[in-house]
Order: sequence, then structure tokens, then C-alpha cells
Amino acid sequence: MSQIKALIQPHGGKLINCYLPEKEGKQTLLTALNLPRLTLSTRNIADLECIATGVYSPLEGFVDEQEYTSIVKDMRLTNGLAWSIPVTLQISESVADQYELDSEIALAHPNGEILAVMTITSKFKPNQNWEAEQVYRTTDEAHPGVKAMSGEGEVYLGGPIKLINAVPYQDFLDYRLTPEATRVEFARREWNTIVAFQTRNPIHRAHEYITKIALEVVDGLFINPLVGQTKSDDIPAKVRMQCYQILMEKYYPQNRVCLSVFPAAMRYAGPREAIMHAIARQNYGCTHFIVGRDHAGVGDYYGTYDAQYIFDEFTEEELKITPLKFEHAFYCTRTQSMATAKTSPSHKEERIHLSGTKVREMLRNGQTPPPEFSRPEVAQILVSSMKLTTV
Ligand code: ADX
Repeated sequence: MSQIKALIQPHGGKLINCYLPEKEGKQTLLTALNLPRLTLSTRNIADLECIATGVYSPLEGFVDEQEYTSIVKDMRLTNGLAWSIPVTLQISESVADQYELDSEIALAHPNGEILAVMTITSKFKPNQNWEAEQVYRTTDEAHPGVKAMSGEGEVYLGGPIKLINAVPYQDFLDYRLTPEATRVEFARREWNTIVAFQTRNPIHRAHEYITKIALEVVDGLFINPLVGQTKSDDIPAKVRMQCYQILMEKYYPQNRVCLSVFPAAMRYAGPREAIMHAIARQNYGCTHFIVGRDHAGVGDYYGTYDAQYIFDEFTEEELKITPLKFEHAFYCTRTQSMATAKTSPSHKEERIHLSGTKVREMLRNGQTPPPEFSRPEVAQILVSSMKLTTV
């Protein structure tokens, strides 16, 4: 094993941790009981978790108007650091009067538990059409990210948060490593270079191919599936986790792979989300980030490689994590292996193109994905889960 170096710095140099020490947390909770309360949506909770645990370092709260404008316009924070999507706390206009500028509010889980206190330093009503155009490159309400954004409310509250209680998650408890914990784990494994893999799908053969190529040139692979809110026809995280576990057991070298979930919600913002995904993975301690075809895309809103081109808009100083860009991978019947146009001499008709969308389509039609698409154990889990949801 090579000599151990310090892990890559978090974005902005410091890992944010918004948890209050226990004693202070208890005192703050007492005050929070008398504050105006805001019940968070599932998406807000995912953002709160990412801010509080440093996944979104250097953010220390929901963005204020100045940061919002700077991010949406320039993909940078006001201090010049790269940041591509505003992390917002939105409320409807009808309740906006309940939350006053320069005051504190309690942020609550839908189960009633108070999770955090936020100081409102900014309250504003932005132009959501502009936000949609800039961030999602479309104002089409059929786009799931645009729809989610406009559905969360017209008024935005910004300000720093202090976490009193951890988000009471019920699932994947053994796989919820915070950036602090992944950094300890990577150091324990004596990894210097780590490639992160974002996914919202079961890992299919193309994913396996690109993750293993990446693993050939770094010390470790961090499989970091997104488990926050996704659109209703995506495969549920619970089913996907079973697929990742079986793959790790049977098809990956366990001492070179670490599996842990990414709590964020999916925004389907394609290129801009690829940047945000990369920054979050740098905060987890990764040095490299996989960006393949249509990363974080949906429908036909983005070009196949737009999420790769956007990295050219940032210098290496601005974005320390290195993107590993992959061409569209497919199964080549001539060479009987996975390949891309870069490595295969085959013609179009010899290429079986794989995608999560295609696998989902097959499952809906009662077909078992063939071995060129999925490992049989994964196909089996997917078919069984489909039967459970259709009975
Ligand atoms: S995403 O929304 O999380 O990006 P998905 O889980 O399908 O969706 O993709 C995970 C990663 O694998 C992304 O970087 C994506 O670009 C890449 N990817 C997916 N399918 C392919 C493929 N056939 N060839 C190359 N890269 C792919």
C-alpha cells in the first residue's frame, strides 16, 4: 500500500457540523418549544441532514437571497466558491407572515419532533421561472425537479441552522455514514485516492463496468447511492440497497469498496446536479467522481454529455475533486464484453445499450433483464420486488 497522505480537504476547507453539544442542545430545545414552528417536507429534511453533517460544506444553513442569486446566476457562492444549486427552504405565501425576519424558528419533523433551530436572516420571493431556466434549463412543469421546486412554496427563508436532534431515520442505519465517518473509514482502510459513484438506480452492467475501470486507477470505490426522494417510477431505495449488497458480496472485492447512502433528494438537474454531487463527494473525502452518460438527467432535457462539459466551467482550484468522465457503455455482442465506442470496433447492431430506464420498462412488462443488462442476482431481486408491488 502506498504511503498515507492527508485526505482531500472539504469544499471551502472546513467540514461543517451544525450539531449542538448535548447540554446546549437540551437548553436550546427548551427555548425552541416556544418558537414559531415549521414542519419540514421530506426534501427539506434531506437538505437539513446534508447541511448539518457537512455533506453540503461550506453551507451552514438554507441559502439567503444574496447567495441564492449568486448561485443561480453564476454557479458560485458570493465568496467565489463553486456551488451550482441553491439549497432552499420554501414556504407558501399564505403562511409567510408567521415567520419574521431576524427571528428564530423551530424546524420540526412531520412526527412532531423538533430537529433544529434556524435564525431567519433572509426572507424573499424569487423569480422561480428564472431559477428553473438557470438551474434546470427548462421551465417545463413536467420536469420532476421544476415541479418539486414550484410545489414547495413561493417564499424562501434563509439562515443558519443549529441541529438539536438527529433526523430520526428508520432505514439503512448501518449505511448512514456522515462525511466525518467516511473520512475516518477511508483513513482506516489506508486509501489515498477514492472514486465516488452516485446512482439512483440498481447497479447494472454498464455501472459495474465504469466503476471497475475507475477502481483500476484508484485505491477505493465509494458506492454512494442517493436514497432521498426520487420520482415515483424510479426503483425504491430499499430494493436498490438489496441489489448493491448482493453485488458487493459477489462481484466486487469487498476490501476495495465502501457502501454508504447519500441522503439527498434527486433534483434531476443534470449538469448542475453533477457539480453538486461532485462537491458533496469531495466532502465525504473522495478524490474522484464518476460522471457518465446523462448524469442526473431525466427525459430529453439534457444532452448525453452536458453533465461532463459543465466541469470545464470550473478551474481545478475551484473544484478540487476530479471528474472521471465515461462514454456511454454498452454490451458488445462481437467482443462479448462491456465496451464503449472508444474501445469497441462493433457496429450499431452489435451494441446492446443499457439504461436504468430500459430495465424499469422490461420489469413493468414482466420481463427478466438478461445477463447483458443485470447480474442474475440483481435481476432476481428486481423481478421479486415488482411482483410484490403489483399484487
Ligand atoms: S443518476 O441520476 O444517478 O446519474 P444513474 O443511476 O443511471 O443515474 O447513473 C449513475 C452514474 O452512471 C451516472 O454518472 C451516469 O452518468 C452513469 N451511467 C449510467 N448509465 C450509463 C451507461 N450506460 N454508460 C455510461 N455511464 C452510465
